[in-house]
Amino acid sequence: MDKAKRRAVIAGNWKMNNTAADATALINAIKAELAGKDTSYCEIIAGVPFTSIAAAKAAAEGSNIKISAQNIHWAEKGAFTGEISGAMLKEAGVEYVIIGHSERRQYFGETDNTVNARVKAALANGLKVILCVGEVLEQREQGITEEIVSMQTKVDLLGIPAEEMKNIIIAYEPVWAIGTGKTATADQAEEVCAIIRGVLAKLYGADVAEATTIQYGGSMNAGNAAELLSKKNVDGGLIGGASLKAPDFVKIIDAAAQ
Ligand code: PGA
Repeated sequence: MDKAKRRAVIAGNWKMNNTAADATALINAIKAELAGKDTSYCEIIAGVPFTSIAAAKAAAEGSNIKISAQNIHWAEKGAFTGEISGAMLKEAGVEYVIIGHSERRQYFGETDNTVNARVKAALANGLKVILCVGEVLEQREQGITEEIVSMQTKVDLLGIPAEEMKNIIIAYEPVWAIGTGKTATADQAEEVCAIIRGVLAKLYGADVAEATTIQYGGSMNAGNAAELLSKKNVDGGLIGGASLKAPDFVKIIDAAAQ
């Protein structure tokens, strides 16, 4: 496994936070914190609410901060009240979309089948994907983390050809660590990220598995990022709470430099 072959990706998941005005202020603050730093070692993404996309994009102009949405519908268009299409996101100028986040699975009936359909829609519209997988506490306690995460990865990627994998980042997010302040240990994160890479190797071969960025997410912060990111299969982070404060988010970006 050669980590150097993969690009570090540090992505903020703002969730349902930050109006357009807040988005402008936060992106500007991140840009100010990054001023004068060489961050070419890593890709930086902000996952913003739909109504803040335009403001975030405008504020990010001229920086290397890329904008992500947090959901996409699988249909091209039609009677799907409250949903958003790939064409709409593409036109709005996002480059990425977060799919299968545990909060969508937990609160909005997201299943591996709907995740798979959304991944296909994103790729069909030329969007890149941050695909989230992860076990709940009960599953970890039952000793079935490997089975759960392997199954999610397989079903979420059903029918996705190898050549599309360059457009997919996998985020391992143990649900018990999200928003709880309880981080997986670096060894726990490494163990499951390696399992996911093993599944990718079976599905797509070693080269694709080696080239795919796998992030850890779940209470990653300025204090614990360096240790998590030092692990050879942890190529980046998907960060919720700590992405809402520019200094904290930029410390995590700094930690990815190693
Ligand atoms: P957290 O969220 O960093 O606040 O735990 C991570 C996520 O949900 O992506």
